[in-house]
Amino acid sequence: MWTGTPLFPERASTMASRVDALYFFLVGIAVFFSLLIAGLIIYYAVRYRRRAPNEIGEAMHGMIALEIGWTVIPLLITMVIFVWGASVFFAMARPPDESLNIYGVGKQWMWKFQHLDGQREINELHVPLGRPVKMILTSEDVIHDFFVPAFRVKADVLPGRYTSVWFQPTTPGRYHLFCAEYCGTKHSGMIGEVVVMEPSEYQTWLSGGAPEGSLASAGAKLFADLACNTCHRADAQGRGPVLEGLFGKSVQLQNGETVTVDEAYVRESILTPSAKITAGFQPIMPTFQGLVTEEQLLALVEYVKSLKGLPQVQTR
Ligand code: CUA
Repeated sequence: MWTGTPLFPERASTMASRVDALYFFLVGIAVFFSLLIAGLIIYYAVRYRRRAPNEIGEAMHGMIALEIGWTVIPLLITMVIFVWGASVFFAMARPPDESLNIYGVGKQWMWKFQHLDGQREINELHVPLGRPVKMILTSEDVIHDFFVPAFRVKADVLPGRYTSVWFQPTTPGRYHLFCAEYCGTKHSGMIGEVVVMEPSEYQTWLSGGAPEGSLASAGAKLFADLACNTCHRADAQGRGPVLEGLFGKSVQLQNGETVTVDEAYVRESILTPSAKITAGFQPIMPTFQGLVTEEQLLALVEYVKSLKGLPQVQTR
């Protein structure tokens, strides 16, 4: 209904119509009450206008039904908004398990994307149609914001942190990608395109180029180059925790707390190894701050994720 309206972006994800429905509901309520209140103001101003110069209005008391009405009706309306909004929020916050992961790094002033198969791209993001895609995003300098209006997806991209958003494209095509957080002189030029392709085309696109191999294999190479493998050995004889099968598990720390091994924990453990030491190990790992770029960190994270090997998980 809004396709010809330049104010409204296309709907190209499963979430788009849900977001729009809630948005139109909110606009509808605002319009209804604005008209009602403005109408009543005009009506009462005319109806109860002062007719004699010394006329004084009568005080009124005890309209209990009216008072309950104007309390309960707004309460019901706001509860509808709350429950509806929360359901959309939860759906947006939880990527389906079978999502395709794609990493993205924002920097002044471009978007860099890294596919698991090893493809890299700048200011262009190719995704398959009909499959949930989870973006894992970070920034190597200031705060940016990943915004694809056609997908109704928007998330701040922060330095030193991983944020994720997901979407499931429903229509092939090219869609605007914006940076929606003022990030310096060329913020307005930090734009790109998301290209939604048929799954078969996407496979063809993925297999073209990228002779370096997958992201995890790039991480494996880096892992060896940085000599991480001298301490993190698969045979549990190393000075560092065994990484095989670690990702996604809970780990007991020296201070008795437990953490879940996720992207953020792996990243922190590379840059600030002393922050969360696994119980039973010494804080001997050097920091890799300044030695690895955000993109190399992503490769290392992906490598650790790919290590499913050992059946016995070393969690201490
Ligand atoms: Cu990046 Cu604005």
